[in-house]
Amino acid sequence: MDAVPQRKVTVVGAGFVGMTCAQLAVQKGLAREVVLIDVLEGRPQGIALDLNQMSAIEGSGAVCVGTNDPADTADSDLFIVTAGKPRQPGMSRSDLLETNARVMASVAEYVRRGSPEAVVIVVTNPLDIMVHLMRARTSFPPRRVVGMAGVLDSARFSWFIAQETGTSVQDVDAMVLGAHGDSMVPMPHYCTVNGVGLPSLVAADRIDAMTERTRKGGGEIVNLLKTGSAYYAPAAASVAMARSVLEDERRLLPCSCFLNGEYGLEGLYMGVPAVLGRGGVERIVELPLTVESRAQLQATAGAIQDDLAILRDRGLL
Ligand code: 2OP
Repeated sequence: MDAVPQRKVTVVGAGFVGMTCAQLAVQKGLAREVVLIDVLEGRPQGIALDLNQMSAIEGSGAVCVGTNDPADTADSDLFIVTAGKPRQPGMSRSDLLETNARVMASVAEYVRRGSPEAVVIVVTNPLDIMVHLMRARTSFPPRRVVGMAGVLDSARFSWFIAQETGTSVQDVDAMVLGAHGDSMVPMPHYCTVNGVGLPSLVAADRIDAMTERTRKGGGEIVNLLKTGSAYYAPAAASVAMARSVLEDERRLLPCSCFLNGEYGLEGLYMGVPAVLGRGGVERIVELPLTVESRAQLQATAGAIQDDLAILRDRGLL
């Protein structure tokens, strides 16, 4: 077994997404030390003990530390922030705005104080707003604060494409940009099945049906589960992004990044293709867009700006 890199990763929030992130991080040997922190007494400690015992059967040599004390997260190389309330049936991600904004503010305080050089991957919803808040409250350079959304949404789109075309989801590459919400922008012209363009495989009306199902993909699972939102795919997406940073893989992934003129937008976080490496967002890739896709991205940016204005009005940003 390869030695586990001497790194420290902290997962914030021991809910279903956080505990699944911790499990994947331990199983894959993302870091020698995987800290799982939550405000609930006993929960992170119990999950960590269970994961360490799992490692006797299936593990990498990584050690999970469960804690309620932010001091235990100090000197982390990377954070995956999942803390906050998940959606319930009938709720939009924006309904979580104020509650989760306060959670982000408290987390940002100990991230900034204890791990000033860390990269932060935010998962908490409403994602494009929470990652914006995390960047503002940590005062980290925007490249070191990034949101997980497009990898998840693209994975959903990939699954629907695999089902529609009767192919292996392993061969599907999909791209979804924009906000992590109902106004997200699936990009059929940048989707392929082993290099074969989606438009040459599937009729336009079926592509439209898949893009609409992708937009509602999170809500579809919320309505089925009835008690919360998805966690396996969100956790896998978060850990894939974390690995690209920690291993300097420089993968090109759709992530919520701070825009400073890219795609004609600035001053907000939104899902765009980005190269993730040791420094975080190494660069943002600007794709040639159809007039329709560009208009859709502008519209989704408007929805993000509206939520940011609510935060500012309430003195939370
Ligand atoms: C989702 O789309 C939780 O936002 C996440 O499932």
